[in-house]
Amino acid sequence: MKQVAVITGAASGIGRGLAERFATEDMAVVLADIEEEPLAKLEADLRAEGTTVLAVQTDVSKADSVENLAAQTYTTFGAVHILCNNAGVVCSRPIWEHTLADWEWVLGVNLWGVIHGIRTFVPRMLAQETECHIVNTASILGLVRSPGTGIYTVSKHGVVALSETLADDLAQMNSKIQVHVLCPGWVRTGILDSARNRPDTESLPNSQNTIASQTVRAEMEAGMSPAEIADHVYNAIQAGTFYIHTHPEHKDWIRARMDKVI
Ligand SMILES: NC(=O)c1ccc[n+]([C@@H]2O[C@H](COP(=O)([O-])OP(=O)(O)OC[C@H]3O[C@@H](n4cnc5c(N)ncnc54)[C@H](O)[C@@H]3O)[C@@H](O)[C@H]2O)c1
Repeated sequence: MKQVAVITGAASGIGRGLAERFATEDMAVVLADIEEEPLAKLEADLRAEGTTVLAVQTDVSKADSVENLAAQTYTTFGAVHILCNNAGVVCSRPIWEHTLADWEWVLGVNLWGVIHGIRTFVPRMLAQETECHIVNTASILGLVRSPGTGIYTVSKHGVVALSETLADDLAQMNSKIQVHVLCPGWVRTGILDSARNRPDTESLPNSQNTIASQTVRAEMEAGMSPAEIADHVYNAIQAGTFYIHTHPEHKDWIRARMDKVI
């Protein structure tokens, strides 16, 4: 039987990179994304290359939508070997200026999306009693912080804390599930345009102006490719590495924060 990988936020960017990488390893891939058209396009592209694919339109911020993803996955394949809780969005402005809708949207996708993935898939993965992996996508901003990235940083610190606690809980019961947390710096993706998937438009122009400044876009353009990130993830799974650092130049930044904390 093929190994099965489930990826949320699979239709573009890092998620697409992960799906393509796992496909080259002859895994079956389950693609979950809120965006219908790119999801269908990736499904068709991978199928044309001979990959076994299931695409499920999913809103990770909704518990019942993630439950539907898990139900369809287990009905089709009966097991999951790699779960990537990867979907994420960004919205930027001084933290006190964020609207309630900003908080609900970003925490809903970035933090609740991972929480729903854990609540829904872990009991099923435990019942499998096979070796399997969970990769939660955080960010370098899950370990440090940067001005103007308030909710995003809160959400990503949450994903790191959630992943650490999950790993401890699973280790305590000698589970066969290994956890990994992905903490990249800039990657060339569509994340600066994440408002394309926002359910409301209440606070759009302001937040988009800040996050999508020329400087920020230039930094992103100079970032790593999703394929390189996917290689890091695949290698970390093989090596059993918990913190997946893709940008070694950030280590001094992390160390400086930890020194300050101490
Ligand atoms: N690009 C970077 O520089 C960078 C750096 C660090 C971490 N990350 C993280 O990587 C992850 C992937 O982002 P990306 O950079 O590939 O951006 P992206 O916008 O290219 O991909 C994100 C995907 O998530 C999907 N998505 C958005 N809302 C969703 C929802 N409610 N339910 C399901 N899917 C949804 C989008 O449709 C999109 O396909 C995110 O968690 C992001 O925070 C990105």
